[in-house]
Amino acid sequence: MPARLDLTQGDITTLAVDAIVNAANSTLLGGGGVDGAIHRAAGPELLAECRTLGGCATGEAKITAGYRLQARHVIHTVGPVWSGGRDDDPALAACYRNSLRLAAANDCRSIAFPCISTGVYRFPFERACRIALATVKAECVRLPAIERVVFVCFGQSDFEAFERIMAESNA
Ligand code: APR
Repeated sequence: MPARLDLTQGDITTLAVDAIVNAANSTLLGGGGVDGAIHRAAGPELLAECRTLGGCATGEAKITAGYRLQARHVIHTVGPVWSGGRDDDPALAACYRNSLRLAAANDCRSIAFPCISTGVYRFPFERACRIALATVKAECVRLPAIERVVFVCFGQSDFEAFERIMAESNA
């Protein structure tokens, strides 16, 4: 049974799923945007665990506990900084793929993603949505343990754009 794909608007830190994904940087030591929000909501223990991980390369993913979050785990992935070069798209796809694999390997059945790289890292939003959707759909076929994937858009206009792209991809 393929995973159910849901789309929601709001703050990813409030979601009761097995794992939420963090759009981190390669230090894994915190930042602004969704990274800052996750660290604030999880509490200082999250940063302490992140310090033990030795950073993370672009496209890769690492897992920690969720501490004060409702989510049991945080999966930290590092999206590409948009350059317009040929490596951008595969690096973003790798974030989604590696996060899903790590979730499945840690007995997570539900996972929520923010729109990785579409903030400070300036990846064009609609292009990023298409990559996110296609990658998650393809990977979930291989990972039957994943039952539910939630895409989280922070703003209303992002939500509407993602909704339209999801409808197009189902048509
Ligand atoms: N919940 C869900 N989505 C959020 C939240 C939140 N609380 N806060 C921001 N977002 C959205 C943004 O609107 C954007 O669409 O997350 C998406 C990713 O934006 P950024 O957080 O800026 O992440 P990214 O573009 O991947 O840049 C990563 O930003 O904060 C730093 O440490 C982080 O250096 C890294 C860089």
